[in-house]
Amino acid sequence: MDISNSMRPRRLRRSPAMRALVRETRLHPAQLVAPMFIVPGTGVRTPVSSMPGVDNLSIDEALKQIAEWWEVGLRSIIVFGVPDHKDAIGSSGTDPDGLIPQAIKAIKAAYPELIVMADLCLCEYTDHGHCGLISEAGEVMNDPTLAILGQGAVAYADAGADIIAPSDMMDGRVAAIRSALDDHGHSDIPILSYAVKYASAFYGPFREAAQSTPQFGDRRSYQMDPPNVREAIKEALLDLAEGADMLMVKPALPYLDVLQQVKAACDVPVAAYCVSGEYAMIKAAAANGWIDERRIVMESLISIRRAGADFILTYHAADAARWLAEEG
Ligand code: PBG
Repeated sequence: MDISNSMRPRRLRRSPAMRALVRETRLHPAQLVAPMFIVPGTGVRTPVSSMPGVDNLSIDEALKQIAEWWEVGLRSIIVFGVPDHKDAIGSSGTDPDGLIPQAIKAIKAAYPELIVMADLCLCEYTDHGHCGLISEAGEVMNDPTLAILGQGAVAYADAGADIIAPSDMMDGRVAAIRSALDDHGHSDIPILSYAVKYASAFYGPFREAAQSTPQFGDRRSYQMDPPNVREAIKEALLDLAEGADMLMVKPALPYLDVLQQVKAACDVPVAAYCVSGEYAMIKAAAANGWIDERRIVMESLISIRRAGADFILTYHAADAARWLAEEG
């Protein structure tokens, strides 16, 4: 066969500059969000054993960490609180003087330009480890949880959070949070809804970091069933109707099909959360010398962007930002 006149796709792959010229998807450090686990005290930096490179940080140590992240070009973080005190209603999560409001104030004072997202959920603050209040029958109650989420959102916004990110998966929480924020003078604060959050085994290492493993049962009555994608669109559209400004799909790599469909169905920025288990797998294989960590991470992140994520929450954020700077 004579292919001399035919299309030769290889013509556009022959040099780094040629490949860069025709590249369809790009990744920029501004599209990466670094998660951060805040603990009480000072001078505390406790490694999370299942997430090498991730630490539980007291506020002073968090500020040092952010200094490094700012240097490599990161401009957004998401904060999770790991408090001393847990109770049945998660009261340390709604306390205006609690750990996360304190952390947000300190971080915004030092880095006013940094985007600080506040994860909003009960599970890190409840002694039972569930994302909602528990009935006498042992069920996670939906509607009574909404008022608590509203209080938490207001506490975080009052402290200076730039974005409120509810991750609890209660029905109607976006509307409840929106009206609580509006009632307290925060109509300018956007909501990034963890709209499409699956009941995933990939959250295991996070629960070590946040000490938020459910003490009984699991999260399947509120987080989504992994085989479902039609339901993801429904969740996304519901949250938009309730006033969400941005949507999130979580986990990321095992759910790229979901991400692509949510992105196609919704005209708002869509984030993907590349979760703790995804991070831990790469770290473990890299530590064994079985994979090339840098290439695997960059290929994973660009795949998540290609599938439709406008930005990515990832524990690899700082490393990826450094590698992007080296690539130029
Ligand atoms: C809180 C929350 C979880 C994650 C983010 N927010 C844990 C869970 O739902 O059990 C998981 C993040 C990760 O695994 O990196 N509800």
